[in-house]
Amino acid sequence: SLPRTVRIVEVGARDGLQNETTEVPTATKIELIERLAAARLRTVEAGAFVSPKKVPQMAGSKEVFRGLERRAGTAYPALVPNMRGFEAAIEAGVTEIAVFVSASEGFSQHNIGCSRAESLDRLRDVADAAAVRNIRMRGYLSCIAGCPYDGAVAPDEVAAMADALVALGCHEISLGDTIGIGTAGQIRNIIERVSAHIALEKLAMHFHDTYGQGVANVLASLQQGITTFDSSVAGLGGCPFAPGASGNVATEDVIYLLAGLGIETGVDLMAVATTGDWISRHLGRSNAARAGKALLAA
Ligand code: HMG
Ligand code: MG
Repeated sequence: SLPRTVRIVEVGARDGLQNETTEVPTATKIELIERLAAARLRTVEAGAFVSPKKVPQMAGSKEVFRGLERRAGTAYPALVPNMRGFEAAIEAGVTEIAVFVSASEGFSQHNIGCSRAESLDRLRDVADAAAVRNIRMRGYLSCIAGCPYDGAVAPDEVAAMADALVALGCHEISLGDTIGIGTAGQIRNIIERVSAHIALEKLAMHFHDTYGQGVANVLASLQQGITTFDSSVAGLGGCPFAPGASGNVATEDVIYLLAGLGIETGVDLMAVATTGDWISRHLGRSNAARAGKALLAA
């Protein structure tokens, strides 16, 4: 049976904007985050404290956090790759972090410049520092269904890295199909394999929509007992280190699916759709949220 409620982790302001080629002003980023929170998305990822040379779009994350008007009850996590990023995040007022590793070796090297094993070693300090300060730490695992550099990724490799993130102290593991290549049967197998060791409540699914499988994969995951999904308003994004990958599955499309199934998210779908339309215009890109566009046209 399907869950009654689902939590959406809105990643458009981070996973979405990190891939934009034109510079997005801080004020626009802040307005986007505030509008998403006002639409009652309770987790709105709001930035990344990474190398500005590698991801120029996230260079202003400090200013974003400083300028953000926060709503009580909404979490605004930020990506942190190392101690330098952790310290910068804390200074900017971040209270929840996300660390990120890859299930494949090739993407690890391209994304963060080190091996999988080394990435886990590097994150130990971050995990310790977060634990000392009582800061919740989410763990992202990329390339669960395939890697742009290595090709196929075995579910065993995914499970091993997911276990390592739990051992590091992550309260939640987000399993990312970075290049949006997975199909429902494959996703089911991965969830089955990973959830043999990790409680379903600790798992989130993070789909990119490159092959148009996002919503189908959300449904397959729901049927496996997953209750947390990452998505991005207007389907924004891609990944600078995964050439050709398109944006995340659109928040509007996911909520439309869930609403039809009678699953509560607490999110105001029309407010997200309007925000998706607004940010798409701002970025001069077409709105990739099919449900968002249809609702606004209706
Ligand atoms: P590195 O190049 O391996 O090593 O960086 P480094 O320590 O020599 O750093 C290189 C430069 O970055 C140096 O500057 C450092 O000072 C600086 P330079 O000496 O050349 O002038 N630096 C930093 N600057 C600001 N903040 C920091 C920081 N750390 C070092 N925290 C590092 C290692 C991981 C930092 C780098 O490779 C990096 O930032 N990579 C970017 C990774 C990234 O943000 N990727 C996108 C997010 S992950 C994702 O999108 C996937 C996800 O959505 C899930 C999915 O879909 O799969 C989460
Ligand atoms: Mg992603």
